[in-house]
Parts: sequence; C-alpha cells; structure tokens
Amino acid sequence: MTPPMLPDLPIFRTIAEAAHELGQPAYVVGGYVRDLALRRASKDIDVVTVGDGIALAQAVGRRLPGRGRVTVFRNFGTAMLPTDEAGEIEFVGARRESYRAESRKPEVEAGTLEDDLARRDFTINALGLSLNADDFGTLVDQHGGLRDLAAKTIRTPLGPDVTFSDDPLRMLRAVRFATQLGFDIEPDTYEAIGRNKERIKIVSQERITTELNKIIEARLPSYGFKLLFQTGLLALIFPKMAELHGVEKVGQHAHKDNFFHTLQVLDNVAQAGGDLWLRWAAILHDIAKPATKRYDERVGWTFHGHEDKGARWVPGIFTDLKLPLGEEMRQVQKLVRLHLRPIALSKEIVTDSAVRRLLFEAGDDVERLMVLCRADITSKDHQRKARYLRNFDVVDEKLREIEAKDHLRNFKPVITGEVIMETFGLKPSRQVGELKELLLEAILEGEIPNEWEPAHQFLLDKGAALGLVPGLAATPRPAAS
Ligand code: CTP
Repeated sequence: MTPPMLPDLPIFRTIAEAAHELGQPAYVVGGYVRDLALRRASKDIDVVTVGDGIALAQAVGRRLPGRGRVTVFRNFGTAMLPTDEAGEIEFVGARRESYRAESRKPEVEAGTLEDDLARRDFTINALGLSLNADDFGTLVDQHGGLRDLAAKTIRTPLGPDVTFSDDPLRMLRAVRFATQLGFDIEPDTYEAIGRNKERIKIVSQERITTELNKIIEARLPSYGFKLLFQTGLLALIFPKMAELHGVEKVGQHAHKDNFFHTLQVLDNVAQAGGDLWLRWAAILHDIAKPATKRYDERVGWTFHGHEDKGARWVPGIFTDLKLPLGEEMRQVQKLVRLHLRPIALSKEIVTDSAVRRLLFEAGDDVERLMVLCRADITSKDHQRKARYLRNFDVVDEKLREIEAKDHLRNFKPVITGEVIMETFGLKPSRQVGELKELLLEAILEGEIPNEWEPAHQFLLDKGAALGLVPGLAATPRPAAS
C-alpha cells in the first residue's frame, strides 16, 4: 500500500505557516489520513498540534481571507474552523491520556504526538501526516497502521485491554470499522472484546446506538451482526436480537434459525438500497418469533401473531435503544405489522378487495413494504423463490391498477362522522361509529366507489334499515378539498 499523500490544498500550507510561527509542530491525524490511504471519500479533518490547539486555530483563522470563523470549545480544549476547500477542521493539542470525544477535560496532560497517537483506538486511525516545514507531508506511523490497512486488519495500537478500558465503546467501533471497511479484527483484539465485553454497560446508549446504526448502514450489515453475536456484545446491547438465534427440533422437525434468516433479509434490503429505517424494519420483522413459537403435532412449528406482537414491541425497543420515537418509529412499526400481508396475498388468488385493504393500511409505505417482503423470501429452493417473486409481481401490478382507480393510499372517506351526524341528526354515538365502519367496509370490499353520490345513497339505505330518518334539510355536499 502506498503511503497516503496530503492533497495539494492551500489550507494545509496555511496551517503549516501558522504552526511554524507559533513554534508548535502540527499533524493531520485520524480518520482523514486513513481515508486518504484507502482512497475513500473523507470528511472532516483533525489536526493535532504539540501545544495549544485553540491558539493554532486562531492563528490559522487570522491568515484566511475574511478571517475564518473559529469556534472555540474551551471546556474541551478544542477549536473548529470551517473551510470552503476542506470542510471542517478541528484543532486539538496533543495529549497523553486517551482520546475521548466526550471527555475532553481541559486539564488533560499535554503530551507528544507519539503519546497522542498511542492512545487512539486502532492502528489504522493512529496515522499522522506532518504539516511541518522540514518534513511536510511525511507519514507518522509508529503502530503499523499502513501495514494493517494493506492487510485489512483492525488492531489496537497498545495492548487491546488497555485501549478498550480507556473507552469500552471502542469494542463496538472495532466491529463498526470491520463492517464498513470489510476488514478482519486481529485475533488478540478480537479475544479482548470477549474478555472485556461487560464493560460496554458503562457506555451511554446514545453512543452505542450511533455505532449500531453505522453497522446497519454498511453495505453488508450481516457481517457486523455476526461479529457482535460471536463476541457476545449483541446479547448485552440488544438481547432480543440475540434471542433469535438457535434452532429447536421436535423429532425430525426443525424450524429455521431466525437470527441468520433476519440477517439475510437485512442484507437483501441493504442491497435493494433500503434506508436506515427499512433496515430496522428488516431487523425487527421477526423479532417476536421466539415469543410466539409453538409446536403443533399436525403442522409443525408455528409463530402465530409474531407480526402483531413484534409491532407492539417496536416502541419499547426504540425507547430502550434511544432511537427516535416519531414518524420513523411508526413507519417501522407499520412495516413489521404488515410484513406477512403481501406474502399471504401472493399465495391465494389476488382479490381486489384484499389489495384495497393493503393499500388502505400501508398508505405511502406500500412500496417499502414490497421491498421488505421481497427481501423476506430467503428460501434456498430456487423454484419456490422464483414462484413467490412472480406472485409479488402480480401483487405489484394489482396495487398499481387499484391505486390508479380508487386512490386508497391516502384514503379519506368522503362521508365523515360529521356528515353522518348531520344527515340523521345524531349526536356522537356508537351508531355513528357503526355506520362509518359499514361505509369503510363497503368501499374496501368494492361494493361502492369512494365517491359522494353512491356513498351517500349507501348511507341513507343503511340508515333506513336501522330505522333512522334523514333530517329535513338536505345534507350539503362539502366543497371538494
Ligand atoms: N478516536 C478514538 N477513540 C474513540 C473515538 C475516536 O481513538 N472512541 C479517535 C480515532 O483516532 C479517530 C478519531 O478519534 O480516527 C476521530 O473519531 P471519529 O470522528 O469518531 O472517527 P473517524 O475515524 O473519523 O471515523 P468516521 O469516518 O466514521 O467519522
């Protein structure tokens, strides 16, 4: 692997000049250097200086046209400078103790560049590029970071027990980087995760979930989850998912391993370009299978109601994991609840009314539901798989046809509760609810279209059957919205 080359950006020369003037050696370090070596799009730049990081940032700011806007975080001893050419640059003084984003105490002991790099998480993140006049652009690599990048290895710079006890989140970061980059975790580092895993409990849920989401957003998330499972981290950070693992047998009858099935669905969704929330739906679609598992002499293993129970669990899981509780959560919940519906549909003759119901319930998430359902077909029997997928094409076709005709996606019945009350001079009551339900059923069943005239006539007929008499004043038809 060729050493990373500092891009030819004026900002690096500017930093070098400011550092020289202050007599403070400065280096570009961390993820930016790693990503340069990997020729990966890199984001923000971290600069470490042997001396005062804030002073260097201010000196650089003064040299920029229009004087760069330096933001100082005095509590953390850091400063940030946005630039047009290279995103945000963060400046910090080299320190002797562990680098921890959240625990940067101002009184940390100043150290050399070597001290600073040794207390970082992994060798591949402990690289530096000099910004000093005498060796500008030279790589600093005391821990074999370049070698590990070439060998695709995640390894801690110091003994892994030291690095992980400095910050136990790094155990999860090891899995995250391995997953994002497609690297292996070096055996000593891997074993240390098993030894130290319980220490993950002292880390805040927010930091854990940030790493978990990065694993989920990787190209092949299953790899990360297999590592999490094997190291024992998964049982600590997300026990319900770990409980999906395992196969039970009664006589010759075994059910499939729901953990590995879930991972395959997750990879399929990832491959189909699914976003974070569709990926969460994949992770959670069968989450209640262990809790609903039964063995039936006649039909074998069943998991009746796992989709409803799973959906009911979603808010609790999102709360525990500190995931957002708004629209994203509701969407995941809906996808979990409905995930069997298209499969059930595709097994029988696809009736219009079943498709109408699905459209009505799934609303705007119907395409995402179909992506999840296709991903859920993990059968190894190619013929069976092809048959299911063909049936889904029929379901898709029907969905389009019926949506074009009936517009059920964001369905609002033309006859509202108010209209019913006005028509028969009723107060809010059970009867109003029943009439509403009858109307909805008739529309979903295709007995009447969702249009004013036929729906209103239907209401009058049903009302008459119940002995209701319409008021004298004709019910005004609401203006079209
Ligand atoms: N770091 C560390 N220990 C941590 C977090 C961060 O040693 N628990 C160090 C690493 O040297 C890392 C740098 O701080 O490269 C920046 O951290 P961060 O921005 O979290 O990671 P990046 O390596 O930049 O990765 P990403 O590209 O995912 O942001």
